[in-house]
Amino acid sequence: MTDDSPRHDASRALDSTRIPAHVGIIMDGNGRWAQARGLSRSAGHRAGVENLRPVLEAAGEFGIRFLTLYAFSTENWSRPAAEVRALLLLAQSVIDRELDGLAQRGVRLRHLGRREGLEQALLRRLDAAEERTRDNDALTLNIAFNYGGRAEIVDASRLLVRDGVPAHEITEELISSRLATAGQPDLDLVIRTAGEMRLSNFMIWQAAYAEYYSTSTLWPDFGRDDLLLALQAYQSRRRRFGGLDQVS
Ligand code: IPE
Ligand code: IPE
Ligand code: MG
Repeated sequence: MTDDSPRHDASRALDSTRIPAHVGIIMDGNGRWAQARGLSRSAGHRAGVENLRPVLEAAGEFGIRFLTLYAFSTENWSRPAAEVRALLLLAQSVIDRELDGLAQRGVRLRHLGRREGLEQALLRRLDAAEERTRDNDALTLNIAFNYGGRAEIVDASRLLVRDGVPAHEITEELISSRLATAGQPDLDLVIRTAGEMRLSNFMIWQAAYAEYYSTSTLWPDFGRDDLLLALQAYQSRRRRFGGLDQVS
C-alpha cells in the first residue's frame, strides 16, 4: 500500500488521460507535526489548514474533478474538548477566509457528514458556501466534517425506508443515490498521510474499489509534489475490478 519508493520522480509527467476522477485524502498527522516542534496539537491543526490552499491548487492543476477531504470524523468527538473546540472554530474561519477564492476559481463546495452536533454558526457557513458555489463545476470539493462512513450508510438506509422503497427493489445504485455523494463518481484513489494504513471510517462504500496510497509525510508538510507522487503511483497500478488483466 505504501508507495514512497524512489521509482517515482516528481518531474515525470502524468498521463492526462488517466487522472483519477475522484480523490479522497485522509489528512492525518497534524498532532505529530506539532509534537515534533514542541507545539500544541491545535497549532498542528492550524498548520494543516494552511496547507489546504496549495493542495487544492495542485488538484486543479492536475485535473482532478472531485476531491474529498476528511477533516473531522464522527469518532473525533472523543478527543479532549479543547481540541474539538479548536477544530470546530478552525472550520468556521477557513470557510470565511477561503470561500471567495474558491468560488472565483470555479470550485463547488459540498459538506459530507451529519449536521447533528454541529453549531448553527458552522452550519450556516456550510449552507451558504454550498448555495453560493452550486453552479460551479471546475472542481467539486467535498468537506467530510462530522463524517463517518457507517453513519452515512445508516442515513441512506433511513432515507430508503422513508421513501417507501420495498426491500426487493433495493439495489447498489439506489443506496448510492441516497448517500451524500449521490451523482458523484466513486473514489478512484484514497491518499492517507502520516503513514497510517487504515480507512478510519472514511467513505467505506465509495472506496470499495479505490486504490490506496499511504505516505509517511505528515499532512502539514504534504504539498504539490506529494500529490504528484500519489498520482504517479496510481497510474502505475492495474485496476481489475474483480476481472482479469486484458492480454494484448
Ligand atoms: C488529523 O491529524 C486531523 C484530524 C483527525 C482532525 P491528527 O490530529 O489525527 O494527528 P495525529 O494523528 O495525532 O498526528
Ligand atoms: C482520521 O484520522 C480522521 C481524519 C483525518 C479526520 P484519525 O487520526 O482520527 O484516525 P485514527 O484514530 O488514527 O484511526
Ligand atoms: Mg491521527
